[in-house]
Amino acid sequence: MKRRMDMEPRISRRRLLGGVATLAVAGGLGLYAAGRGVLDDRRGAPFAPWTAFRGEGGGGLIELARAAVLAASPHNTQPWLFELHEDRIDVLSDPSRWLGDMDPFGREMHIGLGCAIENLSLAAGSMGWTPRVELGAGRLPLFDAEPAPGVRRAAPPPTRVATVRLEPGGAESPLARAIAERHTNRGPYGAQRVPAAALEELSRLNEDRASQEIVWLDRRDQRELFAAHTLRATEIIARDASMIEDSDAWFRLTPEAVRTHRDGVTFDVLGLGPLLTAAGKLLPRPSPERMHEDWLRVTRDVHLAGDSLIGVIATRDRYDLGATLRAGRLWQRMQLWATARGIAMQPLSQVPEVIDRERQLGRAPAMERSFAEALRLGGWQPTMAFRLGYAVREGVCGPRRAAEDVIRAS
Ligand SMILES: Cc1cc2nc3c(=O)[nH]c(=O)nc-3n(C[C@H](O)[C@H](O)[C@H](O)COP(=O)(O)O)c2cc1C
Repeated sequence: MKRRMDMEPRISRRRLLGGVATLAVAGGLGLYAAGRGVLDDRRGAPFAPWTAFRGEGGGGLIELARAAVLAASPHNTQPWLFELHEDRIDVLSDPSRWLGDMDPFGREMHIGLGCAIENLSLAAGSMGWTPRVELGAGRLPLFDAEPAPGVRRAAPPPTRVATVRLEPGGAESPLARAIAERHTNRGPYGAQRVPAAALEELSRLNEDRASQEIVWLDRRDQRELFAAHTLRATEIIARDASMIEDSDAWFRLTPEAVRTHRDGVTFDVLGLGPLLTAAGKLLPRPSPERMHEDWLRVTRDVHLAGDSLIGVIATRDRYDLGATLRAGRLWQRMQLWATARGIAMQPLSQVPEVIDRERQLGRAPAMERSFAEALRLGGWQPTMAFRLGYAVREGVCGPRRAAEDVIRAS
């Protein structure tokens, strides 16, 4: 989810009070609220995967898939399938869960696959295996097929993107213990700064410095430039009907939608705080346009407001399959490390998304050039941007499909 997910519903205080008063007069507030999942939406089967993964030896290969499904993915699309073999797991993309024009080259989808591969590998270590990860090579598969103008691309079939071979003898990673605790946090962050030593440690998690780099925007002027570009990119997306339609398709704003799909972005994960979250659930679903206008406002007033520290994962080639999977592995590892230390994180992906969209539409790469020049990225290409800090409220879990639902017969 992203921003849309991170998007805040349009709720003015007056509208909120008006809506609540009307319901109270109608006399059925309690029952009505319960029916709309206002009181607590995070129960039942869609949330069971958060406790199903135990990470203990003897659990069998399915336990590794249980870890993998808890990974981050764009809009919580969970674009993965797993084939379990005796001594290996094949990881496949599931392009039926692709974000369309929000992610025209499947770049974000493959970052999400990298996140799942990382969880799987870390869990393997704690369960007594040494994982040997073989990543696919080449270009992002969706990149090759340029659609004719106005033609929507059909999703290609599932494709194997990685094989994780499992050999006996593992070393437990402390990161594995954070797998079921990690959540994207979209609420406000406090003024306390993440210390420089933590950033150094996060940078050390990058094992592939030749092809990717974490760029820290540790000066205020850099963060202002980042904020200006991110707001501009958010405006561009909010005015792009096709992008917001494809984004909106992954919002699950009723308990029925959460129960049925077990994916996507829910009200609870938006970081709005209890009152606005409850109000959002009671009010009628906003139009996609309105949701994205609100997302723009929340981006400005919450996500970029507190001058949080910003990081950018940059690669040498944004459309290289292996580099994209490695960026996902790094992103997942960084979040787990941060989770174990009480540091919150949230991707702010609007700039890379607009860069993709410019390319898809054959437009001049205005965002790409302006961002790279402003932040002096040299030959590095941004593929993931994020803020980090100490959150005012805890991040919460979103729904997940169970491992059993995403295992493909081999
Ligand atoms: C490639 C990628 C891009 C993302 N972009 C955004 C974003 O722009 N804004 C945001 O709030 N979350 C973003 N997310 C976070 C996902 O929405 C989140 O991982 C997903 O909803 C699952 O929730 P969880 O991370 O709490 O498990 C992104 C995640 C990935 C992997």
